[in-house]
Amino acid sequence: MQFRTRAIHVGQACDPATGAVVPPLYLATTFVQRAAGEAAEFDYSRSGNPTRKAFETTLASLEGGCGSLAFASGMAATHCVSMLLEPGDHVVAGADIYGGTYRLLHKIASRAGVRVTLASSQHLDQLAAAINPRTRLIWIESPGNPLLSITDLAGCAELAHRHGAWLGVDNTFATPVLTRPLEFGADIVMHSATKYLGGHSDVLGGALVVQNPELLAQLYFIQNATGGVMAPWESFLCSRGLKTLELRVREQCRTAQLIADYLSTHSQVERVLYPGLASHPGHELARRQMQGGFGAMLSFEIRADFAAAKRFVESTRLFQLAVSLGSVESLIEQPASMSHASYDPADRQAHGISDGLVRLSVGLEAFEDLRADLEQAFAAL
Ligand SMILES: Cc1ncc(COP(=O)(O)O)c(C=O)c1O
Repeated sequence: MQFRTRAIHVGQACDPATGAVVPPLYLATTFVQRAAGEAAEFDYSRSGNPTRKAFETTLASLEGGCGSLAFASGMAATHCVSMLLEPGDHVVAGADIYGGTYRLLHKIASRAGVRVTLASSQHLDQLAAAINPRTRLIWIESPGNPLLSITDLAGCAELAHRHGAWLGVDNTFATPVLTRPLEFGADIVMHSATKYLGGHSDVLGGALVVQNPELLAQLYFIQNATGGVMAPWESFLCSRGLKTLELRVREQCRTAQLIADYLSTHSQVERVLYPGLASHPGHELARRQMQGGFGAMLSFEIRADFAAAKRFVESTRLFQLAVSLGSVESLIEQPASMSHASYDPADRQAHGISDGLVRLSVGLEAFEDLRADLEQAFAAL
């Protein structure tokens, strides 16, 4: 079956008891056992819940994995991966990653003796140079956050495996509509389901998808032992979100491309970072690695200092001033003061997250309305 058909049908069979076309929401926390110690598939909702299972089954199919685990948030999912590591283990993380992941690795995983090195993942030689004999995990995002850098997933997988490490890919920005990292050899795909999978800014969730059953079992053991699971209502909303994922993402990509084209000719814009522009250093790679679109996230630098960039993001009306992304509503933010405020200022500077950088999450509104909104914010600068 094609992607969009699987998004609707895999794991989402009608309820045999009633014929309900939409599988019911199972709020139960516990399940009656056939005999003492003889549970059927489900016994307790931290260990497994039918509504969560339905979402996990659909997502695993869309990412091409052997299984999936749903979490209470994207960070809970990434935290679960970090708990695979032991004291002295080393992580090489892309420099262009979500600020919360940076914080998790530097401030939480470090307490367990895990060491971290940041490297520009779009330059495989820099990533390779950061590897040491204790490296067990390479962690990247493509497109990266907030600079939209594109990383060669197959190259990274080969590099990781050559050094006995796993490759983990945060696929939140690309979604499985555009890129399926497991097909390029990645070991773990992670999602903030809060973003495109949910798609409507009303659910917080996360997920992991893997293709190796042994790795799935290890991650499941940690998830069940630590308990950061996705709740049934959130699982239900995520399953509903997946049904329209492809349509939403394709349309959002189309509008993002129009906005990128508009911004790249604007006199008040220094540069536009969008993989769909031929001027983007990762454009050719993105054409090979992303199917039929370049994502709906874009960043641009305005010719302004920190205060003026702050004023700009505060003066749009349709683009709402908020962190997060991937929803039907368009959002705007200033990474230096918002999503990437948890970066050390020196790391921010070193990796090109400038004060004048503005990040857009393009939603489903009409392009003309979004352009007019940006135009009036430029006029107010
Ligand atoms: C790319 C990316 N990864 C991970 C996360 C963390 O996800 P959550 O907020 O669902 O914990 C975010 C949140 O903004 C994100 O943008």
